[in-house]
Amino acid sequence: MKGLSVHVYEDSEALAAAVAAEVARVMLGDGKTRVNVGLATGSTPIPVYRHLVQLLRGKDLSHVSSFNLDEYEGLEASHPESYRHYMQEHLFAHVAVPPGNIFFPEAGRDYDALIAERGGLDLQLLGIGTNGHIGFNEPGSARDSRTRRVELSAATRAANARFFGGSAEATPSHAVTMGVATIAGARRTLLLATGAGKAEIMAALLQRAGREYDPALPATALLQHAGAEFHLDRAAAARLDK
Ligand code: F6R
Repeated sequence: MKGLSVHVYEDSEALAAAVAAEVARVMLGDGKTRVNVGLATGSTPIPVYRHLVQLLRGKDLSHVSSFNLDEYEGLEASHPESYRHYMQEHLFAHVAVPPGNIFFPEAGRDYDALIAERGGLDLQLLGIGTNGHIGFNEPGSARDSRTRRVELSAATRAANARFFGGSAEATPSHAVTMGVATIAGARRTLLLATGAGKAEIMAALLQRAGREYDPALPATALLQHAGAEFHLDRAAAARLDK
């Protein structure tokens, strides 16, 4: 893990409090300069958003734009499992990011150009799939991939079936995701991993410190990124080399 910025917390709650404090600091900035944050969905960041709402409620965020990592194909924003719905529920309904500054990737939208025009991502929050995906960049994704439509792997559909009545079949088969290069283009990346279910993939990832990008494990794109941070709770860090 030489040279990597790895932070281990007692539990997911301690991790969430620390990460939210840092994200709030970045989002508040000096209150004037534009700030662009990349946001993630999934189970892992939910406690982070809970703390973030506490820290940002009532604050002026008119200088903030947000760019979500990914969205399922074929779900309306009103669908309870769409990522637009998730973000509304966990963050945007409670804090004053202007609705016109909130972006999600969509088929047919040049998301990378939009991010670049707006000055690039200051910070990108990330979770990690048990198969090593970041965003919906499944194993096999190219290091230079940009925002695009992707097919979800069987493993990811099975992992996310819990949100769709337990049925992998009912889980969307496609999504639009920021690419590996889009994510690695952020000035800082904060990858969060909590719970024993992430211990194996985090050990596999961090063991590769100093190595090149491996398309079989898309999160390895972060290992060469000077602004990458890895935030783990003790359970997710259980298999790391001491
Ligand atoms: C979410 C995302 C995914 C998740 C990953 C982990 O926007 O892009 O890569 O971060 O699947 O999900 P959880 O946190 O539910 O384990």
